[in-house]
Amino acid sequence: MIGMANGPLYRTRKGVVYQGLAEDILRSKWFKPLQNKVNLIFTSPPFPLKKKKAYGNLNGEEYVNWLAGFAEIFNELLADDGSLVVELGNSWVSGLPAMSIESLEALMELKKRGNYHLCQEFIWHNPSALPSPVEWVNVRRIRVKNTFSRIWWLSKSPYPKADNKAVLQEYSPAMKKVLKNKKYNSGSRPSGYKIGEKSFLRDNGGAIPSNVLYISNSASTDPYLEYCKKHKIRYHPARMPVDLAKFFILFLTDERDIVIDPFAGSNVTGWAAENLNRRWRSIEKDAVYARSSKVRFPNAWDLNGGR
Ligand SMILES: C[S@@+](CC[C@H](N)C(=O)[O-])C[C@H]1O[C@@H](n2cnc3c(N)ncnc32)[C@H](O)[C@@H]1O
Repeated sequence: MIGMANGPLYRTRKGVVYQGLAEDILRSKWFKPLQNKVNLIFTSPPFPLKKKKAYGNLNGEEYVNWLAGFAEIFNELLADDGSLVVELGNSWVSGLPAMSIESLEALMELKKRGNYHLCQEFIWHNPSALPSPVEWVNVRRIRVKNTFSRIWWLSKSPYPKADNKAVLQEYSPAMKKVLKNKKYNSGSRPSGYKIGEKSFLRDNGGAIPSNVLYISNSASTDPYLEYCKKHKIRYHPARMPVDLAKFFILFLTDERDIVIDPFAGSNVTGWAAENLNRRWRSIEKDAVYARSSKVRFPNAWDLNGGR
């Protein structure tokens, strides 16, 4: 029996949004057929915040246990070469200019309980983040702006499906010049490593990205936001930029693969997956966020009357 209510809310040709608790829906009849088939779980769970946000967050040990408690069901769903990518922001100790390590502890516990490999740690740097916490950064001026969050790429196998050629970035102007002139001072690096001129001067179609992702989250062009503002609907306060979801979907999956987001919010993950021709499933417990995210999909249709 599913707690609280819920189930499928709307769908497209490639994906379905479910409204309800991820802990229930992931174990429901709707997800049984996906066992051992999911290529990517990409998600930004609720953070362990010092103050409760509108969407309700846990704290402390309770939070660590709650997040790590998903390891078992994630393992059942993930394909053997699938990936679990979790984005978690930093949090602060209540009332103090000190950082909390709860999000790190939760990631570590999730890794441990799932027996995962940490394939790589990423930093998502959001240059347009507002200064916070206001008390320490703007008022007392004793801390600096917090502008990054941590992304852990975990997997069952040390060799999950991945291809960095799918996420090449535009070469820098300096590199473009080097490739054009076919000339480079191929002396030793400070480390003593000597760059082979031949391989360095080859145009590989783009630069290999680093694990620091510079993606702004100003999102003023998000059609979801426009729609919610126009219709006076409570919109999601912590949406991620679609380029962040696209990066991991392109890097870790192929077309037609299955991507799921169990804490989908405004369903940016489903939106990115739809546009990249991946199959997707998203779960969100808040009915308002889940329902209004349908605006991202012009061809979506309601299920069970849209609840
Ligand atoms: C950080 S937000 C995700 C934002 C999303 N990535 C986006 O771009 O819109 C986390 C979401 O998880 C939802 N949530 C919290 N607990 C949940 C649960 N047990 N099951 C499903 N969703 C949950 C919250 O309502 C919130 O919308």
